Amino acid sequence: MNTFTFILTVLLSSNILLNAACSKINDPALTPAPAPTLYARLGSVGGVSKVVDSFLANVIAETQTSNTSLKRTFDPLLSSGNAQRVTLLRDNLIDQIGQATGGALVYKGLTMTAAHKGMATTTQEFGVFGVAFTKALTDNGVKDPEKTELLTIITTLQSQVVGQ
Ligand code: HEM
Repeated sequence: MNTFTFILTVLLSSNILLNAACSKINDPALTPAPAPTLYARLGSVGGVSKVVDSFLANVIAETQTSNTSLKRTFDPLLSSGNAQRVTLLRDNLIDQIGQATGGALVYKGLTMTAAHKGMATTTQEFGVFGVAFTKALTDNGVKDPEKTELLTIITTLQSQVVGQ
C-alpha cells in the first residue's frame, strides 16, 4: 500500500465511521419526543371545550347569586335571548385557548381590547371571572401544572380587559 492509498483508506474509513455516528444521532429511537403542548395536556379540543362549557355555566350561576359581580357585564349577553351570541362566545373562547396553548385552533374573534371596550371591567370583576375559570379547571380534573400555565396566560391579558 503506497502513501496515497493509505491516506485514502484512512479518509474513507473515517467517513464511514462519521456517517455511522450521524445516523445514530438521527435515529428516531434516540431522539427525545417533543414535550406535549399545554393544549394536548388539556385534552385537545374535547378537554378545552369541557372547561369552557363549565366556565360559562359558572359565570351564569354567579350572575344568579344575590351579591353577583358578573351580572353587570354579562347581563346584556345573557338577557339578549340570542343563543347564537352565547355560542359564538363559547366558540371564540375555545379557539382562543386552543391557539394560546399551542393547539391548531385559530382565534377569529375581536382583540381583547375591542371585545371589552366600554365594559369598564374592574379588577374585582376580573378576579371573580378568574375564580369561575379556576373552578372550571378544577371540576374538569386539570392538574396543578396545567392549571398554573393556563391561568398565567389568562392573567397576561388582564390589562387588555380591565378598564376598557
Ligand atoms: C383574560 C380574560 C378574558 C378573556 C380571555 C376573555 C375572552 C373574551 C372573548 C374571546 C370574547 C369574545 C370576543 C368576540 O366576540 O369576538 C369576550 C367577550 C366578552 N367578555 Fe371577555 N374575556 C376575559 C375577561 C372578561 C371579564 C373579566 C369579563 C367580565 C367580568 C368579560 C366579559 C365579557 C363579555 C360580557 C363579552 C361580550 C359577549 C358578547 O356580548 O357577545 N370578559 N371575552
